[in-house]
Amino acid sequence: MSDYQQVTDALYTDAAATPQPALCCTSTPPWKLPGLRVPRGMLERNYGCGSTVSPRDLADAQRVLYVGVGAGMEALQMAYFVRRPGGVVAIDRVQAMLDVARTLLDEAATENDWLEPSFVELRHGDALALPVEDASVDVAAQNCLFNIFTRAHLATALGEMFRVLRPRGRLVLSDPVSTRPVPAHLADDARLRAMCLTGALPLDEYLGALVTAGFGTIEVRSRRPYRLLDARRYELEEDLLLESVEVCAIKDPMPEDGPCIFTGRTAIYTGDDASFDDRKGHVLVRDVPLGVCDKTAGALAALGRSDVRLTPPSWHYAGDGCC
Ligand SMILES: C[S@@+](CC[C@H](N)C(=O)[O-])C[C@H]1O[C@@H](n2cnc3c(N)ncnc32)[C@H](O)[C@@H]1O
Repeated sequence: MSDYQQVTDALYTDAAATPQPALCCTSTPPWKLPGLRVPRGMLERNYGCGSTVSPRDLADAQRVLYVGVGAGMEALQMAYFVRRPGGVVAIDRVQAMLDVARTLLDEAATENDWLEPSFVELRHGDALALPVEDASVDVAAQNCLFNIFTRAHLATALGEMFRVLRPRGRLVLSDPVSTRPVPAHLADDARLRAMCLTGALPLDEYLGALVTAGFGTIEVRSRRPYRLLDARRYELEEDLLLESVEVCAIKDPMPEDGPCIFTGRTAIYTGDDASFDDRKGHVLVRDVPLGVCDKTAGALAALGRSDVRLTPPSWHYAGDGCC
């Protein structure tokens, strides 16, 4: 077992027993859903950043995998949508976390009429060797775990997620990313890594790891400030801003000309006709922005037309674009 994993196990064993407000906690409020009551003990142990829960992904999902369950809040939110025995399989390698998640999910079942304890199946296991069959889940998710991993372990963990997803299945991730590479004296600090502070990769490297794992479509759904590593306390030449991102990677076949990565760019046709057809599957209705992936944005820019405008990334892609 690697050093940082030992430190991570110890940290989350403690964080299971005693809530740690300063630990990796989100600055966005958790979802409020009609008829869903989340036990206080889960809210106090919400160690994720952002959210991996979206009705768009979960509306038709029969089987969801959640890796790094923590105290179970997002597993509970996913069960709210899936509502069937074994519909959510949730994994953690820290037994104390699994124990507290079971207790709190049972408590949730007493407070939510729609919830059966069997809706979330907890399994002891490791993100690096998932105890899950190939091509068996519709949606897989992790929140604030993969940023802790080294590059090599991240590649392994993404490969595992890719393996267990069905074709066209979705991997939903929420993690810190860094606005420049994190210097080695911080990246090598196992405790800071485990606290989701210094394992973060720059966004392009993070997305590149998803492409290398084989995901043909990637959506960046949200990007916002997460933490500031201040120069004085972290022995840096200048402050280092961390952001949190929410990303969905879809197990689509890899296009021959490379992945479709959506960062919230749009193309807008402003010419004299009612629409513009690029003959590659993109019809731009005059004056109406069409969401395009970065590859299509590049191809449209290369046309050099003054009546095709491109907007910069909004980092809020919500689907329904090209490709
Ligand atoms: C930062 S916490 C996030 C917990 C939860 N996702 C949330 O949003 O509150 C990371 C979780 O991953 C678990 N974990 C750490 N290393 C793991 C691994 N290699 N495989 C599976 N789970 C792991 C920890 O025990 C902890 O519950």
